[in-house]
Parts: sequence; C-alpha cells; structure tokens
Amino acid sequence: MSANIIDGKAYAEGLRARIADAVRALSGQDVTPGLAVVIVGEDPASQLYVKNKARQTVEVGMRSFEHKLPASTSEAELLDLVARLNADPAVDGILVQLPLPRQIDAQKVIEAIDPAKDVDGFHPINAGRLLTGVPGLVSCTPLGCLLLIQSVRRDLAGLDAVVVGRSNIVGKPMAQLLLAQSCTVTVAHSRTKDLEQVCRRADILVAAVGRPEMVRGDWVKPGATVIDVGINRVPNPAAGEGKTKVVGDVAYQEASQVAAAITPVPGGVGPMTIACLLHNTLEAACLRRGLPFPAL
Ligand code: GUN
Repeated sequence: MSANIIDGKAYAEGLRARIADAVRALSGQDVTPGLAVVIVGEDPASQLYVKNKARQTVEVGMRSFEHKLPASTSEAELLDLVARLNADPAVDGILVQLPLPRQIDAQKVIEAIDPAKDVDGFHPINAGRLLTGVPGLVSCTPLGCLLLIQSVRRDLAGLDAVVVGRSNIVGKPMAQLLLAQSCTVTVAHSRTKDLEQVCRRADILVAAVGRPEMVRGDWVKPGATVIDVGINRVPNPAAGEGKTKVVGDVAYQEASQVAAAITPVPGGVGPMTIACLLHNTLEAACLRRGLPFPAL
C-alpha cells in the first residue's frame, strides 16, 4: 500500500487565500491587521524565514513591520522594543524570531510580549489557556499539524496519538491539541523506553525530534497518519560532492509504504507554519477589537 501524501503546500495556499478574503472583508471596517517580526543577528536561515514571513504577510493584505537588530543588541534594548510594539495600536501580532543571541534570555522576552499579540502562542498565558481548554493563540507549527491531520481524518476521538518530542514549541502544545480532540495521547522523547513499540501503537504519529529519518517504516502502524515536523539538512553524495538535501524525522520512503497518509519533507508541515502565523495574526486582530473571528 502506498500512502496518501498530505500536500501541506496546497493546504497552506488555500488557507492563505481564505485569510486574504477575511482581511479584505475587514478592510471595510477600516481594519488592517499588522504583524511585527523582530530578528536579532545575522543567521542566514532565520533571515530567509523572516523574509518569507514578510512577503506572505503583505500578500494576504496585512501590514508587515520588520525590525532587524544587530547581534550585539542587549536584552534591555529588545525588551524596550517589545514594550513599544505592545503599545502600538497598528501592531496586532508580535513575533520575536528564535533562537536569540546568548546575552538575551528568550523566556524573559517571550513573557514580555502582550499575550493578546503573542501570535507564536509561546507566552505562558497562552500555553496555559491551551492546557486548560480556554480559547487563546496556539503555536503555529502544532496548529498546522492539527489542520493537516484533520484534512485526512475528521473525527479523532478515541484514536491513539503518539507525539515524539517534548519541546515547548511543538511537542507539548501538539499533545494538548490532540488531547482536546479526545485522542489518547502519549508524549515520547529521547529517554522513552521501547520507543519503536510506543510508535507502533499510534493511529496518529507526530515526529518532532530533529533527528534525520529516525522513525523507520517498521515503527509505523499500518494505516496510521504520519506527520513529520523535522527539517534536517543532511549530506547528499548522490547529487555530488558537498551537496546536501533536506529530510524529515521520518524515513519517508519506508513509512509511506505502511501509513495511510503522510506528510512529505519538504512540502508538508513547513509551509503550514507561516500560514498559521497569518491565521493567528488575523485572530489577534479580531479579538483585540471585539470582532468575530471568521471560521477558516
Ligand atoms: N524559529 C524557528 N521557528 C520559529 C517560530 O515558529 N517562531 C519563532 N518566534 N521563532 C522561530
């Protein structure tokens, strides 16, 4: 059996088109959602990511505010900028690109962002809302994963879900989202005993560990839905000396023979993250003004 390939690129395009429609409808009420993205330092991967965010923000009709700060920026300077963005009525969403340089305490910065503008969903208030089932802003990557799962499986109640990885950004919020869908959730990680056996129980398997192709085909339950969050750059000698390629945390060729549905890397979860960021910015813009948030 060959799995249904979950096309995250196409899903993200559709979601962005629906967001653009909603932004157009808001413009009739003189509202233009605004997203501020802050980047500290010169990391090329982060720079590219931020550039893509800014382009897609403008494409859906929102305002994009970019703040590029030198790597030498102090924690106090960054906290001062966050305070100004919190107070700026044109800014509905604030994203501070991680990782931050060593002299800056990332947690302190995350906690300084107004929870109503925390489009990353990283603030403890929003993490706590997710934990307690209260509406709030949800981390973009897990939200994207859930949308992709629901695109192939409508009712998740009672299914066994295994999340491999326990980060604050993906693993933990992913587990909470699946629990809220009435899945029986297991969070596995690097210290889990018999990880393979645990994965084999999963009707829904989410891999977010950052280890290239760690999840093998025989770890996958036949008929499972497999979501690969990994983006790992590895050598690709077949393409030539010094060449590299991007692979996920799942051995795709093997797993796609066993799973019912699987996300590819690239083109699976990756494109969903920015689309969900725009979704959260729209949601924050509506909530801050007491406007209804349109179902997307
Ligand atoms: N760095 C890599 N991914 C992310 C993300 O989703 N949000 C932020 N703030 N930084 C990141």
